[in-house]
Amino acid sequence: MEPMELPRLFDRDTLPTRPRPGTAPAGQDILTVAQFGRPLLGHIFQRADEMKVMVERAGGCDLLRGHVLACLFYEPSTRTSASFIAAMERLGGSVIPITQGVQFSSVSKGESLPDTVRTLEQYADVIVLRHPDVGSAKVAADYAAVPVINAGDGAGEHPTQALLDLFTIREELGAIDGRRVAMVGDLRHGRTVHSLTRLLLQYDVSLRFVSPDTLRLPMALMNELIDQKRDVRETHDVADVIADADVLYVTRIQKERFADLAHYEEVKDLYEITPEIMRQAKEKMVVMHPLPRVGEIHYAVDADPRAAYFRQVKKGMYVRMALLAMVLGKA
Ligand code: CP
Repeated sequence: MEPMELPRLFDRDTLPTRPRPGTAPAGQDILTVAQFGRPLLGHIFQRADEMKVMVERAGGCDLLRGHVLACLFYEPSTRTSASFIAAMERLGGSVIPITQGVQFSSVSKGESLPDTVRTLEQYADVIVLRHPDVGSAKVAADYAAVPVINAGDGAGEHPTQALLDLFTIREELGAIDGRRVAMVGDLRHGRTVHSLTRLLLQYDVSLRFVSPDTLRLPMALMNELIDQKRDVRETHDVADVIADADVLYVTRIQKERFADLAHYEEVKDLYEITPEIMRQAKEKMVVMHPLPRVGEIHYAVDADPRAAYFRQVKKGMYVRMALLAMVLGKA
């Protein structure tokens, strides 16, 4: 049998690490999808599959009993916060939830991010952080002695969402290679779009991007795709991509990231996936959305078996269970 390639997440030579006296190599941060190569992705998906079976059979287990997760959210969240909490509790661990608004924590008294994480590490074995500033998770990781998991840093990255998105494509369609993925909406600010696009570069996929000019994929990311000679097209119109898409990845226009609200008003209603649009789509394809949605997928689409966005939510918990187990050395 071929020796298994070491997962990149555990490779101290290729990761931004610092000494962690007394901790095992497993105790690495998850900051960006750049940390994940295909062997590690395959390993995580296999573990997520196992978590799914375990939850369906037993509801939970004691794998992480005695471990504590601190959930530190400076921005609103439903899915990411709740799924990390559910993941930790189903694995027998416990949670410090600072998720209902940091205004109720000492952040409201002016406590800095470094001091906050250096406090939480006294209680917790891992910190999940959502913060409005790009690069904030890296800053937290530079100060924390326990692993930090990036749960969204402004318009930067949302690596665990991208992992669950990829896991969903694999589960729903059976394979990722050979698929055509069309992303629709706010591609400029959508951190889930940025992270998923980068992860998809590890696969043989073609990519279609649908947005108004002002919300196109960031130039640096598009240049990466062009440099790699990827099959990529941009358009303003869902009608140009719907018939050939295997995955329609719809995103919200992110009002909170607009400096000019008049501009938001101009673009906010440009896209709405309706049953009529779905009639032009393949019989075997999936509609995904990181959620929340605010009108870009009509509620009437929910009954379509191709609407995978709530199944996607549940798969996120299994992926986050796998990630917590891995980061805490129980993989
Ligand atoms: N997909 C996602 O990040 O959702 P929340 O903002 O609710 O966490």
